[in-house]
Amino acid sequence: MRRPLVIGNWKMNGDRDQCQRLIASINSGYTSTEGDVDIVVCPPSVYLREVHDQLRQQSSVLNLGGQNVSDQISGAYTGELSAGMLKDAGCTYVLIGHSERRSLFGEDNVVIARKVLATLDAGMIPVLCVGETLSEFELGQTQAVVLKQVMDVAAIVGIKRFDRVVIAYEPVWAIGTGKVATPDYAQEMHRYIRGQLSAKDGLVGESVRILYGGSVTAENSGSLFKQTDIDGALVGGASLSADQFVSICAIANRVQLRIAS
Ligand code: PGA
Repeated sequence: MRRPLVIGNWKMNGDRDQCQRLIASINSGYTSTEGDVDIVVCPPSVYLREVHDQLRQQSSVLNLGGQNVSDQISGAYTGELSAGMLKDAGCTYVLIGHSERRSLFGEDNVVIARKVLATLDAGMIPVLCVGETLSEFELGQTQAVVLKQVMDVAAIVGIKRFDRVVIAYEPVWAIGTGKVATPDYAQEMHRYIRGQLSAKDGLVGESVRILYGGSVTAENSGSLFKQTDIDGALVGGASLSADQFVSICAIANRVQLRIAS
């Protein structure tokens, strides 16, 4: 059974006070203790250590994630953060290859694969983000694009190590647009990705967690989480609202408890 995972990606939003308030509100709002859901927040990197300390002080169940990582171990890479540094700051997860990194910062599948490797080598869990753009969707290229994004990375990282990788399927046309994919569409893509990984390695296909991302809210998360191959969500905008984020985590928890019973 795959353990559900909900990740909040705060992107470049908020300041120190807002980060502290958001964490405090999530901690007091999320009271569910019986569930089997992993929850991660990804604040801007300059606040990671403070958020980490706050999570400790408040005995929080939340985990900490980085929004990006360098593919290099150390050296003259001004402005970059290594996987070791993120680990030192308390991260256990790292988002890699988010569509904003691909489109705005020119990250390609080779760099992304190296970032996945650096993250695995540092003992953290990489969250590999994939997804088609609107024009690729309209041209009917969705499966080919997503398959290449996954398999180019698997070829470099090695399929066996994918059992530690989380995949986030995020159609780019759904990110920040309010146009969430239908549960059926998302399920079909998740099943496709899992099937392709299973063809390479049955155990990996069965165990890899595949999250949906793109305009997830408390209102639409339940119908997404009920799909067999959707193991949780990568949440952007709605993760900046404690009420929304807590509700999404609680819904993942409830769906999980129902499936498990
Ligand atoms: P969104 O962002 O939930 O605001 O659409 C998702 C993401 O960028 O991961």
